[in-house]
Amino acid sequence: MTTPLLKVTNLSKSYYTGYKRFKRQYNQALSPISFELKTGETLAIVGEAGSGKSTLARILVGAEIRSGGDIFFEGDSLDKHDLKQRCRMIRMIFQDPNTSLNPRLTIGDLLDEPLKFNTDLPESERRALVVDKLRKVGLLSEHVDFYPHMISEGQKQRVAVARALMLDPKIIIADEALTALDLSVRAQILNLLLELQKEMGLSYIFVSHNMNIIRHVSDKIMVLKKGELIEKATTEQLFNAPQHEYTQRLIQEQSLFTRKK
Ligand SMILES: Nc1ncnc2c1ncn2[C@@H]1O[C@H](COP(=O)(O)OP(=O)(O)O)[C@@H](O)[C@H]1O
Ligand SMILES: [Mg+2]
Repeated sequence: MTTPLLKVTNLSKSYYTGYKRFKRQYNQALSPISFELKTGETLAIVGEAGSGKSTLARILVGAEIRSGGDIFFEGDSLDKHDLKQRCRMIRMIFQDPNTSLNPRLTIGDLLDEPLKFNTDLPESERRALVVDKLRKVGLLSEHVDFYPHMISEGQKQRVAVARALMLDPKIIIADEALTALDLSVRAQILNLLLELQKEMGLSYIFVSHNMNIIRHVSDKIMVLKKGELIEKATTEQLFNAPQHEYTQRLIQEQSLFTRKK
């Protein structure tokens, strides 16, 4: 058996929320959860707001410290790697490019930032990589001098994708990365992500509550509810025979919504 790219065992997170009746209070944002991700695979995480999806994503990229459990990358504990090394493994794309992209930086600088902080490459080489990634996401070399407000929403999300790709990570986490986009743009970005996956052999963790998109893109799915993993299955299994009532409801609600349109 080959070592999975990412292996997570009993990962948990509780937030300290203050004192009540002389006792420390905690919010269990994530109950112990285990899963694996292989190279080229797409894992979807679904669940209503507050179910712990973003908490899980933030822990994986190192933006949050876990309360318990282990994370292994290609068989090695992720703790052995510093944040710079982790950036080369896992990167994240956020929901809204208007908040994830600093409006005061040019597209060129936004894309240069990860290289500047995490590599020793000289400026000329970094510039070449920036232009290369811009083209990969369907933008032009001229865009380096543009500011985010000068380009469309779809183009901004393309910049966010390029930024996530700068260090050639193996895993991309898309946290509701399509949710804020118009329907037509959504399809374009989705197709871009699928093309990049094929071309670069990327693995995705796709956080979404859109069951149609999830069915289309993912190999396997985890359903979270109030921080608990209530169902884990392949996409086919989950849609053909959802085991949990909550999962059945998610699928049903989505099909009602689709029919109404
Ligand atoms: N920094 C924080 N401090 C305290 N509680 C938090 C913090 N971040 C998230 N939470 C709580 O953790 C739970 C999961 O949140 P989150 O992971 O953002 O859910 P989701 O992304 O599924 O909507 C929620 O109950 C939320 O209120
Ligand atoms: Mg979230």
